[in-house]
Amino acid sequence: MRWLRWALWLVVLVGLLLAAIGGYVWFVSESMLTATHDVPAARIPSPWPMKILDADPLGIGKSIARSNARKRGEALSVRLGCRECHGQDLGGKVVMDVGPVMRLAAPNLTHGHGGLPEGYGIVDFERMVRHGVRRDGGTALMSSIDYQALSDREVSDLYVVVEDLDPVDRDVGPSSWGPVMRALYAFGQVPALSAHRIDPDRKDLETPPPHRPDARFGEHLAQTCVGCHNPHFSGGRVLDGDPDWPPAANLTPAPDGLGGWTKEQFVTLMRTGIRPDGRAVDPVAMPWKAVGTADDVELEAIWVYLRSLSPRGTGE
Ligand code: HEC
Ligand code: HEC
Repeated sequence: MRWLRWALWLVVLVGLLLAAIGGYVWFVSESMLTATHDVPAARIPSPWPMKILDADPLGIGKSIARSNARKRGEALSVRLGCRECHGQDLGGKVVMDVGPVMRLAAPNLTHGHGGLPEGYGIVDFERMVRHGVRRDGGTALMSSIDYQALSDREVSDLYVVVEDLDPVDRDVGPSSWGPVMRALYAFGQVPALSAHRIDPDRKDLETPPPHRPDARFGEHLAQTCVGCHNPHFSGGRVLDGDPDWPPAANLTPAPDGLGGWTKEQFVTLMRTGIRPDGRAVDPVAMPWKAVGTADDVELEAIWVYLRSLSPRGTGE
């Protein structure tokens, strides 16, 4: 019966080892997920004022400013993909619900039942959109890393859209990480959530650069691509995306990037989802429908900026 004793010991040892790994994963991920962040309150006017109508005794300027802001904000909410996660009506949507991996529920942003809480202001809104930090200072599951470079005016315009939404009654429930995401994080396979990666004191632009087809405006617009295509635009595995996604493309002018592409081919991809060789890009992993709502000047600006980068190998 000696082998039985050995077998029992083995079971006990393996059990202890698994418990230790589980405890480690839990501890490391829990400290990241439950951390709180101090983000200074942003002072952003809403709606964004129109300078020429500063002296405005009848308040006409304010209502024009508001309708202009709403128009800009509507376009932003589509191009930035807010509606892909929060639903076309921004009334909330469950984006992903795979128990062991994660539950990603983009909340209802209207003032209906299950929507934004009473008194939710532009300070709370800015904290979530540009910093990935919840109203109570907690770490949020939204990928705000893509929106950290938005200017004050863009945040203000988006806020006007949210304020003016018709109420929708929908409660999508909370978002959470399951054991698989926790383990991937604990072993360094996925990065920390946005709030940990964004500098809380970063200097924000007041307004976006002028609307021109140049690299300066293009660089601003292209900051929304870095979460997936990485800060060097060289592509590779999308670290905080669905593990089933194809790797993000290399957008630098390298041979294995956009080196051989023309501006027309780039614009066609953004408008139709079709590459120069006729292959379609994955429409979920690469949000071309959202990006493709950019106007001609915006797409040309992004192209001019990407052309100005030094070529890099994929993932470098
Ligand atoms: C990839 C999906 C995704 C995209 C894209 C996205 N969000 Fe979110 N958003 C979420 C999730 C998930 C949460 C909940 C985060 C949490 O509670 O940890 C959230 C939370 C929020 C909240 C806080 C709501 C509350 O009740 O506290 C606001 C405001 C918000 N998002 C605005 C936006 C705006 C504006 C955009 C576009 C610029 C946007 N989101 C794009 C997924 C997304
Ligand atoms: C949510 C992640 C995500 C975001 C945000 C994103 N992309 Fe992509 N992109 C991808 C993935 C993944 C692919 C590869 C898709 C495939 O292989 O089907 C891709 C492919 C592309 C391609 C095709 C290139 C080729 O060689 O096939 C271009 C061009 C592109 N992206 C440009 C952009 C630009 C410009 C932005 C920002 C305005 C952007 N992407 C934002 C994930 C993303």
